[in-house]
Amino acid sequence: MSKNVIVVGCQWGDEGKGKVVDLLAERSDVIARFQGGANAGHTIHAGNRKLILHLIPSGVTYPDKTCYIGNGVVVDLFGLIEELEALGALGIETRGRLFLSSSANLVMPYHKLIDSIEEKKRGGDGIGTTLRGIGPAYRDKIERCGIRMADLFVPDRLRQKLDNQKKLKAEYLTGSDDERADLKKTFDDIMAVAPRFKDCIVNVSLELANHWHKGDSILFEGAQGAMLDVDLGTYPFTTSSNTTVGGALTGLGIGPRMFDEIVGVVKAYTTRVGGGPFPTELIDDVGISLREAGAEYGATTGRPRRTGWLDLVLLKHACRINGIEKLAVTKLDVLSGFDKIKVCTSYRRDGNKYDEIPLDHTDLSNLEPVYVELDGWKSDICGMTDYSKLPAKAKSYLEYVADFLKVKIGLVSTGPKREDTIMVDL
Ligand code: GDP
Ligand code: IMO
Ligand code: MG
Repeated sequence: MSKNVIVVGCQWGDEGKGKVVDLLAERSDVIARFQGGANAGHTIHAGNRKLILHLIPSGVTYPDKTCYIGNGVVVDLFGLIEELEALGALGIETRGRLFLSSSANLVMPYHKLIDSIEEKKRGGDGIGTTLRGIGPAYRDKIERCGIRMADLFVPDRLRQKLDNQKKLKAEYLTGSDDERADLKKTFDDIMAVAPRFKDCIVNVSLELANHWHKGDSILFEGAQGAMLDVDLGTYPFTTSSNTTVGGALTGLGIGPRMFDEIVGVVKAYTTRVGGGPFPTELIDDVGISLREAGAEYGATTGRPRRTGWLDLVLLKHACRINGIEKLAVTKLDVLSGFDKIKVCTSYRRDGNKYDEIPLDHTDLSNLEPVYVELDGWKSDICGMTDYSKLPAKAKSYLEYVADFLKVKIGLVSTGPKREDTIMVDL
């Protein structure tokens, strides 16, 4: 395996990044999250345990790994504490090996309140956010009024910043009886937990550079997926961060030479949670059977995921904007049993054919997918670990995808557990 690998999602999130990072973490010294927040839900199966991580890097179950949460992440302190406690209850100790950037912005309780008020205002055409306060927190960061980890240790400055918030967000906070609008309580709650973080706030950029110079192997863990990138995804139906490799550079304070390999995680079909265009969506029995066979319910919100065939036009875009060389294809087992499996290779509208996503991404909603039909396979491949033993039709499916995208297959996942994996070339 290359030394320093970055793992990013190529679709609308939930591709199985958690599983892939957990697997690759075994061979890494350091795991670093660079963007997003507790909107992420990364599932890992470590031994008999199933864990869903939101903020903490997916390599945390290995006791000898060091984990970093970079400045690009928006940190919900109280959510983080819950996650730490859940890990602690499983005997997973993070003291001395989980560090946070002093420059990371905090998701405050009022951000979650504002997220839910704004989602309600948007009505049926809403983004369908995770209600984790992500958009409002990133908005404050860009507006330059955010509260950062370093503020925890300067109480006067924190109080002053909260007073400022009271003015800036009067529309949402004044007169509200929601306790998340109570900034005095927020201040007290933060002060009560701040000492827990004293020893784990660091300069993540500097620490990673030190690891790099020492020759340690670093694994970079993306959250969400390319199509949820705020610049390059299906805006405005995206999250509020850069979910692609560029986000790792700014979200950790590193240079591009730190990446030896860029791995894109692709679910063998497509899913999406929340609103927004989804050209290959199936709202028929096939879509339902994909949802049931793949247990497609959100790891963070429990919402049913929308399902559809693989969209190679979107994946071509995802590979280009990330510079992806290798794919980790997950959930191939879920496709077993179909007579025919479709993949979208272009779109059509008004007699015109489109090989790339339209300039205006909102136009994706009225494009008709053009499919190539591939043969399915009948046998159950769940848990397979040997590429040569895959049914010929399953191999053909993978090869079609790799050829179309001009990338290599690095890994194939055939079930949720660590061991349900075919390591091809990673
Ligand atoms: P992430 O957000 O990209 O980490 O993905 P999620 O954890 O939200 O969703 C992926 C889901 O698929 C989780 O429930 C995983 O346990 C499960 N999963 C991952 N890989 C496979 C696989 O190859 N086969 C099956 N059946 N399930 C998988
Ligand atoms: P992981 O890391 C799937 C989606 C939400 C919504 C949109 C904006 O587990 O792959 P937000 O709360 O970020 O403002 O919501 O983005 N979304 C995700 N969908 N997986 C995720 O993360 C997601 N994080 C956000 O459903 O449509
Ligand atoms: Mg997820």
